[in-house]
Amino acid sequence: MAIDDNQATIGWSSRWTFILAATGSAVGLGNIWKFPYITGEYGGGAFVLVYLLCIAIIGIPVMMSEILIGRNKQQNPVDAVLSLSKSEKVSPAWSIIGILGILTGLMIMMFYSIVAGWSLDYVYATANGQFLQITQTNIASYFEQLRANSPLQLAWHTAFTLLTAGVLAAGINRGLGNAIRILMPILFILLLLLVGYSYQIGHFAQAFNFLFAVDFSKLTGEAVLVAMGHAFFTLSLGMGAIMVYGSYMTKSASIANTVLTVAFLDTLIALIAGLAIFPLVFANNITPSAGPGLMFVSLPLAFGALPYGEIFGTVFFVLIAIAAWSSAVSLLEPGVALLNQRLGWSRPLSALLIALITWCGGLGCIYYAQLFDVLDHITANYMLPLGGLLISIFAGWKMRRKTVRNELKELSLGQFNLWYGISRVIAPIAIFVIFIAQLELHNKILRLFQ
Ligand code: PHE
Repeated sequence: MAIDDNQATIGWSSRWTFILAATGSAVGLGNIWKFPYITGEYGGGAFVLVYLLCIAIIGIPVMMSEILIGRNKQQNPVDAVLSLSKSEKVSPAWSIIGILGILTGLMIMMFYSIVAGWSLDYVYATANGQFLQITQTNIASYFEQLRANSPLQLAWHTAFTLLTAGVLAAGINRGLGNAIRILMPILFILLLLLVGYSYQIGHFAQAFNFLFAVDFSKLTGEAVLVAMGHAFFTLSLGMGAIMVYGSYMTKSASIANTVLTVAFLDTLIALIAGLAIFPLVFANNITPSAGPGLMFVSLPLAFGALPYGEIFGTVFFVLIAIAAWSSAVSLLEPGVALLNQRLGWSRPLSALLIALITWCGGLGCIYYAQLFDVLDHITANYMLPLGGLLISIFAGWKMRRKTVRNELKELSLGQFNLWYGISRVIAPIAIFVIFIAQLELHNKILRLFQ
């Protein structure tokens, strides 16, 4: 469907387009870059289990709430909550959900674009044959040099920001769904091939144990908070991305089925990425807790050794960059939709302004690595869960039961009550408890500012 600047809403052409777009938002660097690196940092199995539980118990119900809020009023997150506050007769102050969300999206994009830039660099390096037969020491120093090369990172960051702004300016329905429909399955197949390769040459059993053998003695309170934060991050929850996509969803589609599909695909891709990366990590004596570089120092080892590795590797990093691209678009769409719908600015102008803000933030992340860490930590571990908490309370307590029931008509009464109970009681309490119990991590983050 063509995009019209003056049109308040865009409208997905079918239920599948929505699933594809939401999957495009959810599947990104969070699955392939972040999930493996934090799993490595927080000790494996027990962390993975908590992450899976958070997806099931908190993520899925919150995602349903986000979509139903967005779809009910068919507007950007700020205006959707504002008009709901009128029709549901609650305070307009709840629109803070939208404002906080837009801010969070901008802050995530500031470091996300840097990591996406690294992926672009790896496309170039793989295609050039730079990783052929590469050794562990050489790839580690390649990555270090990239991180020390600020102008190069700036160039890739700028390229990625422009790509994202381009899609936002044109309007997100044009082409994005189609691209995802073709590219996601290819990414999936390549990941499976990598798993097969890692199985043959890597320490697969050790990796499997690391990911799935649950040892609670390794689980710290901090790990629980990070696992919950990542459940929000990976599903794109708590900042309005899914809400604004929901505003383009048709009324007839089933929210619950859609959410289950998206959550399933997203989780599957993260676990498969883990199974591709960790066998290589263990076989090459890379420390699992190596941090944000983990994917970038392990995967080239596989591509460097594989027959036709340059081709595989290039395609793989292109697909990662595209997955990051479709996520980045959704990070900024709430802000662009707000400027476009509320102030009447054209989409290109709105996209340009928003992209300029995040580009400047990215600049900061390149020159002050601390800023990168701070943004990565506080967005996922604090801002997204806080957004999710407010969204759950809004859908569970502030909207009338009749209104939410109407959006979730497809559920049986029992299923509806399950969602309702989780949204009203379980999710808010879980988020709150995990939040306040983590003084250790709060102190660590405070130290980052010093
Ligand atoms: N879910 C995306 C990923 O896993 C990141 C993202 C977070 C996108 C929040 C939108 C909103 O890479």
